[in-house]
Formats: sequence, structure tokens, C-alpha cells
Amino acid sequence: MLDETIMKRRSYRNFDDRPVGKEVEDRLLTMTLRAPSGGNMQLWSMIRVQDPHKKALLARTCDGQDFIAKAPLVYIFLSDTHKFLEYFRFSGSEEKSGISMRKPGPGDFHLGMQDAMAAAQTCVLAAESLGLRSCYIGDIIENYEEVRKAFRLPDYAAPACMLVLGYPKKEITSPLLPRPENDDFYFVDEYPELDRERLDRMYRAQNEYSNPEHESETYADRYYKRKYSSDFMKEMNRSARVFLAPWLAE
Ligand SMILES: Cc1cc2nc3c(=O)[nH]c(=O)nc-3n(C[C@H](O)[C@H](O)[C@H](O)COP(=O)(O)O)c2cc1C
Repeated sequence: MLDETIMKRRSYRNFDDRPVGKEVEDRLLTMTLRAPSGGNMQLWSMIRVQDPHKKALLARTCDGQDFIAKAPLVYIFLSDTHKFLEYFRFSGSEEKSGISMRKPGPGDFHLGMQDAMAAAQTCVLAAESLGLRSCYIGDIIENYEEVRKAFRLPDYAAPACMLVLGYPKKEITSPLLPRPENDDFYFVDEYPELDRERLDRMYRAQNEYSNPEHESETYADRYYKRKYSSDFMKEMNRSARVFLAPWLAE
């Protein structure tokens, strides 16, 4: 059952208008919260975006992906150290322990990211089990200043990823997007010296899918032109530097 769900999942963007009922969403969130979390501290948070204006704002700030505005469920997953800083403060943890409070650092950010991504992927699979479909939106890390203002994000609570979910309008029948072969993909015991042949094998499936004519353009060439050098990836990097700054400050 679960293996079938995993093997059939695909990103879905064109949702039916049918709303997701409270009971179904409750089950979805209960399953999401079963995700593992470092120390069971839940160093992540989720914002359920229901205001249509805020969905429209996200469609714009996330590189103009209009389907975001039409998605019945929009969840922003945050790496959230702020929550625990507040909890320490309200509990008087510093005074009670006699250990002076340190500033949050990149490790705290990353732990929150690990929690947030474990929760998001649990949500994706839980959604499938409930007949829902989903798509990650990595562009949530763009335009941080605008997103921070719209959702009143404090320092030390930054976007990890976003999910849009809903019922499918119509199931997609085209083949699933390809993946590498297991043996081509993983490394054993240490990171190897990469050579052209190894990389060609690793990306053979994607290459053949996106370039059936076998022109000289590789998957790397396509990624380089369309993504790596794109304005939206420049914006992602600028924006991420801004929200990471408090965690990186000495
Ligand atoms: C971290 C992450 C960010 C993504 N961001 C976007 C996005 O902004 N827009 C989008 O349409 N799809 C996005 N996707 C979906 C990918 O394009 C999709 O997973 C990939 O092409 C493989 O397709 P599949 O999920 O159907 O197998 C994202 C996926 C991940 C894991």
C-alpha cells in the first residue's frame, strides 16, 4: 500500500475547485504531526494560508506560479527557532538552569529545516493516502521581505518550503518523471571523485526524457541555462541571505 503510494506519487498543480473538508484536513494534519522531529521538539511551524489575497501574493512572490492562488490548501513550512526561544523565555529556562543563553546559530536553523522537511514529506504522503495531490513550492524562499511582512514572520522563523494541495481535477496519465538507477545514484562509504561518465550515468534518465533527440545539450546545460543562471535563483540566494542573517550573526 505505502510502497504503491510512494511509487505513484507525482507533483500535481491543476487542482479541482472542490474544497478539502475539515475532517479530511484534520486527518492530514494529524498524520503530518506523526513526522519524526529532532528531540521531539518540533522546531518547525506551519502557516495554513487561507486568505485569498495572501494566496495571490504568494503566487506572485513565488515567481508568478498562478496555480498557487487556486490551490485549496496552501501550507508554508517554517524552520522555527523563534518558538523555542519564546518557550525558554516564558519558562525562565535561563534563570532556572543558571546557563547563560547563547544566540541561535546555523545549526539551529538546519535542525529546524530537517524537522520542517520531514513534516512536509510526511504531509505529501499523507495527502496521497487521502486522495489529495500536492506540489512543493521551493520559490517560497524568494522575496523574503514581502513574505515576512505578509505573514508577520519573526526573526529565527524562516520559510523551509511550501506545499500546495487539493483534489485532482483529472489524473495525469503521462509517464512519471524518470529517476536515476539506484546503483548509478548512491555512493559507498565515501564521496568519490566524479567523472564525466559517472555524471552521465547519474543523469541518463533525465537526459533522455528531456532530450529525446539526443542533441548535444545535456541535462546540466538545460539546468544551467533555465535554473542556475535564472533571475529567480539569483533572487532565492539574495532572499535566503537576508533570512539567514540573524542565525549567522556572531
Ligand atoms: C524542494 C522542491 C521544490 C520544488 N519547487 C517547485 C516549484 O516551485 N514549482 C513547481 O511547479 N514544482 C516544484 N517542485 C516539484 C518538482 O518540479 C518535481 O518534484 C520534479 O520535477 C519531479 O517531478 P515529480 O514530483 O512529479 O516526480 C519542487 C519540488 C521540490 C522537492
